[in-house]
Amino acid sequence: MNTIANDYLPPAEGPSCWTGPELAGSGSWIIELEDAERAAIMAALDATEGREALELKADDFELGAFNDKLRGMAHDVAFGTGFAMLRTGLGELGEEQARRLIWGLGQHMGVPQIQDASNTLLHDIRDTGADIEKQHNIRTYQTNLAQPFHNDGGDIFALFCRRQSSNGGQSQIVSAHAVFNEILNRRPDLAKVLSEPFYFDARGQNLPGKPWYQALPIFQNYGGRWFVMYKRHYIDYAQRSDEIPRLTEKQIEALDLMDALCADPAFHLAFEMSPGDMVVGNNFTTLHARSAYKDMGPTTGDKRHMLRLWLGVPGGVALPPAFEETREFGPLFQTTERIAI
Ligand SMILES: [Fe+2]
Repeated sequence: MNTIANDYLPPAEGPSCWTGPELAGSGSWIIELEDAERAAIMAALDATEGREALELKADDFELGAFNDKLRGMAHDVAFGTGFAMLRTGLGELGEEQARRLIWGLGQHMGVPQIQDASNTLLHDIRDTGADIEKQHNIRTYQTNLAQPFHNDGGDIFALFCRRQSSNGGQSQIVSAHAVFNEILNRRPDLAKVLSEPFYFDARGQNLPGKPWYQALPIFQNYGGRWFVMYKRHYIDYAQRSDEIPRLTEKQIEALDLMDALCADPAFHLAFEMSPGDMVVGNNFTTLHARSAYKDMGPTTGDKRHMLRLWLGVPGGVALPPAFEETREFGPLFQTTERIAI
């Protein structure tokens, strides 16, 4: 048997492989809105005043020529660099306006996906004061803790900043493909380990009838593409149960290398989000993180507030069959047409 051939892992290739300093230098990921585009959004917000965001379809949130630009941006994120930030300049929106804005823009970019066991399509990201160590169904986005590098669900996520914190809450994004290639270069043995299953805690969000954990490789190759699935903290949480095999030393070494590369400024891009900014990222080729933050005060009106969509992109890439069982990507199999391999 030729074990070398069986163990061969191809590197990731294409525009999804980049480093933070390269992106920072080009600035190509920042899309500033033109005045006419901003005016089109404001007109759509005025036209939908008083309506519930989730009832709106693309036709209800008509943006003229900007419709196509949004569709193009979603396509680039799904198939290209995997990351963009739209600076709308609309930083003074009320809560209902912000909900209609992200939902309305999202209608032109893709199909909203359910994000949790209660079928929520549009999530508020705010510190709820919940204790993640004491409640097994609490997730990091419901706290002000640092959020380690991870991916969300759907082909792409969209995160709109309505209000920032008084300090902290810096964002970071990394190309998982560039990280994988570096691991493959330095330690091919650990790249192999990362392409074998790890146990993730589903944090109470498992699909109906599915166990509280998911077993998936961190990197899997399907149809010639590498797909990432990573949440180190959820892998560590899963170790709370004796049902789950203990992590091996080699697995821990692989996870530590992965974390070190993600945290390395030579790989990630760090950026600040201001009110009115919307970040759109690819969940198969990038990972993102956020530093801990402090709110201006205890009331809802003082708190950092982000709104989040998970979107399926019609004609999105064919997905590894193992993703059908996951809460992050399972709904994509039902809601969006995929391209053939
Ligand atoms: Fe996230």
